[in-house]
Amino acid sequence: MFHSGKLDAKEYLASSYDSRVPIIDLRDIKSHPSFRGKVIENIRSACHEWGIFQVINHEIPVCVLDGMIDGVRRFHEQDGVVRKEFYCRDLEKKKVLYHSSVRANTEQGANWRDTLTMLVAPDPPKPEEIPQICRDIVIEFSRKIMELGITIFGLLSEALGLNPSYLKELGCSEGLYILGHYYPPCPEPELTMGATKHTDSTFMTLILQDQHGGLQFLHHNQWVNVLPVHGAIIVNIGDLLQLITNDKFISVYHRVLPKNTGPRISIASFFVNSQDPVDGTPKVYGPIKELLSEENPALYRETTIKEFLAQYFSQSLDGSSQLGSFKL
Ligand code: SIN
Ligand code: FE2
Repeated sequence: MFHSGKLDAKEYLASSYDSRVPIIDLRDIKSHPSFRGKVIENIRSACHEWGIFQVINHEIPVCVLDGMIDGVRRFHEQDGVVRKEFYCRDLEKKKVLYHSSVRANTEQGANWRDTLTMLVAPDPPKPEEIPQICRDIVIEFSRKIMELGITIFGLLSEALGLNPSYLKELGCSEGLYILGHYYPPCPEPELTMGATKHTDSTFMTLILQDQHGGLQFLHHNQWVNVLPVHGAIIVNIGDLLQLITNDKFISVYHRVLPKNTGPRISIASFFVNSQDPVDGTPKVYGPIKELLSEENPALYRETTIKEFLAQYFSQSLDGSSQLGSFKL
């Protein structure tokens, strides 16, 4: 069974505090205003204290999540000749590309993983550009993860005391990259990393991981495991959201440990729009004015996403966050 070994939500809540990120149940957010209020309160503290949390009962059927993990696994386990057709390292050239570490020259070490990257919004690829072996499930998953992203941006907006459509209107959910990672079993895991320590450049990343575990994030200077919970989606606050929220929400370091078992599959959905607008000048992002006051002055200068990403991709070899470069 694909998910044997994964905890269900109840077992997860009983697990040790040290290895527990907040888990937030979204079941009744649309029908019960008082429940929604409680969820928003929990999200506010999770974004402020942890920068990462898991959501359950989020309306994406488990069969779609399992199907997407399976589809990505099938892509990566195809003959090399088929995968080679998609091989490309230049995110500007193609909407669907297959590669190992994209930034092999600037990363601390190569990541022990291969990735299928798909730019699905604002301009989705034509269906025939998506690998045939996972086409249908990629299209279905993309639609559902975009809907969930918009729902979560609504909750995040309210958690900031703003109207529910604020972050959507700002463009936070305009762009979406879906990355299907494949971490092969590693014969000498102590010598490398699945993914080296980094923060995400995005507004938000939604992560679906299989039962193998290995994802860790830094909390009070300690690496904490994000235990796999079947059917859950991990919400990870990115650097751009930390910048526009003026540190009300935090973006945390995370990494993936390699294992000699596996393969491990994860799907990271990156909400960030790096496309130039077809008409007009690029949007400028800075700390949201409504969140500022005399006691809470802006901590960051304004930037375009292009400039922000260029700085992010020039980051030093140790994966250090580049947010400091935008500090006032
Ligand atoms: C990443 O953040 O680079 C990957 C997350 C994961 O594979 O769980
Ligand atoms: Fe990441």
